[in-house]
Amino acid sequence: MLRLCAEALRARGLTAAAAGPSSIAAASYSGLLQSSWFHASASRHAAAADTEGQETITVTFIDKEGKEHTVKAPIGKSLLEVAHDNEIDLEGACEGSLACSTCHLIFEDEELYKKVPEATEDELDMLDLAFGLTDTSRLGCQVLAAKELDGARVRIPAASRNFYVDGHKPKPH
Ligand code: FES
Repeated sequence: MLRLCAEALRARGLTAAAAGPSSIAAASYSGLLQSSWFHASASRHAAAADTEGQETITVTFIDKEGKEHTVKAPIGKSLLEVAHDNEIDLEGACEGSLACSTCHLIFEDEELYKKVPEATEDELDMLDLAFGLTDTSRLGCQVLAAKELDGARVRIPAASRNFYVDGHKPKPH
């Protein structure tokens, strides 16, 4: 069942990638950010600059209680980092090393979700373990703020599943 969800996500990713060069399918997100295709696309959108001149976008996190937090997200920062910078309760147990799924976020807008560069196989494998996986689920540590995502609304699921910590087996002394 969970594998089917991941397959559905993979299928969606391949569809999105079909709009760009075929090399995008194999590229990492950071690679995509550096690609000319990504920048050409990004330049079509306006982004604000914060007081230090750093370009930012606006992202709204909807927390587990349904409270909305609209914050400035510096371009290039992961949504996990942005949440932590703003004291928003998004767990991130493995600190972005793709060893948990506690940074699970759900994009509210499907059209905007399609603008996020596709997930890697490793992210999809971790998403398989996420509680409440949806068609617009991503891991917050793997999604970087980019101009295309200005105005994104992402929901933090009410629960998370943490195999990184829960599955930890202490060594005998
Ligand atoms: Fe563990 Fe994102 S923080 S996978």
